[in-house]
Amino acid sequence: MTDSSSAGGQKPKLDASVPHSARVWNYWLGGKDNYPADRSVGDQVMAMFPDITRLARADRAFLGRAVRYLAGEAGIRQFLDIGTGLPTANNTHQVAQPIAPESRIVYVDNDPLVLVHARALLTSTREGACDYIDADLRDTGKILAEAAKTLDFTQPVALMMLGIMGQIPDSDHPESIIKRLTDALPAGSYLTLSDGVNTSETFTEAVRHYNENSASTYHPRSPEQITSFFEGLEPVEPGVVPLMQWRPEATPFPDTGEVPGYGGMGRKP
Ligand SMILES: C[S@@+](CC[C@H](N)C(=O)[O-])C[C@H]1O[C@@H](n2cnc3c(N)ncnc32)[C@H](O)[C@@H]1O
Repeated sequence: MTDSSSAGGQKPKLDASVPHSARVWNYWLGGKDNYPADRSVGDQVMAMFPDITRLARADRAFLGRAVRYLAGEAGIRQFLDIGTGLPTANNTHQVAQPIAPESRIVYVDNDPLVLVHARALLTSTREGACDYIDADLRDTGKILAEAAKTLDFTQPVALMMLGIMGQIPDSDHPESIIKRLTDALPAGSYLTLSDGVNTSETFTEAVRHYNENSASTYHPRSPEQITSFFEGLEPVEPGVVPLMQWRPEATPFPDTGEVPGYGGMGRKP
């Protein structure tokens, strides 16, 4: 595990009294790694926008389908998962390694509680590898330098950015963060990205309430803005679409209703 706490950017401290995005997300996913302050704002958002838990689950289901596609059809064996979140069901290595046990996964998050629980993310197969970097997404130089200890950047890498770009305000130039990361990857690498969108007024209102009561802020963007994050990459079918429409798989009880989240994938030519 690597700690980049000395690197630039604000380093969040473990403060149980203020809601943190990783812990509130964990609460909406039905997890237990959260505090009363997280549950309180989590409940308030749920009262304003009850579909928030479906959005969180749709995002995790998208992660599963994307990693199955990458490890299966696309033959990817290296994953850089930034904004990992607290360990939950079907983390990236738990989806990739049953398909390709030699898969190597590096997780990155800046939340102190995710660091505490990171051991659950490091249960790699013997043939593969898992590592965890405690770093801020904006510190791309540090992330790439530390990830290179586990990943071979001469071979394709799948960059996973789920529910993380919305954590970055426009003033921090999100597109340049993505460019710095994708520029470091060889041809044949992939970007997978998902985020909440601003197409639902009730969701946007609920996010505004969350932002006024939390340690950090979230910024839902338009589907077009999310699509623009893939500039310079070849779109993987079906493009950037509502989460549940991205390569849906047959399940006994499918949830097909809309949620204000989009996801997509692009391949570096
Ligand atoms: C909404 S959760 C998404 C978790 C997971 N990727 C998923 O889709 O289920 C956002 C995660 O990004 C992390 N995060 C937020 N801002 C970050 C930053 N600037 N650098 C690194 N991680 C960040 C939070 O700690 C949290 O774990």
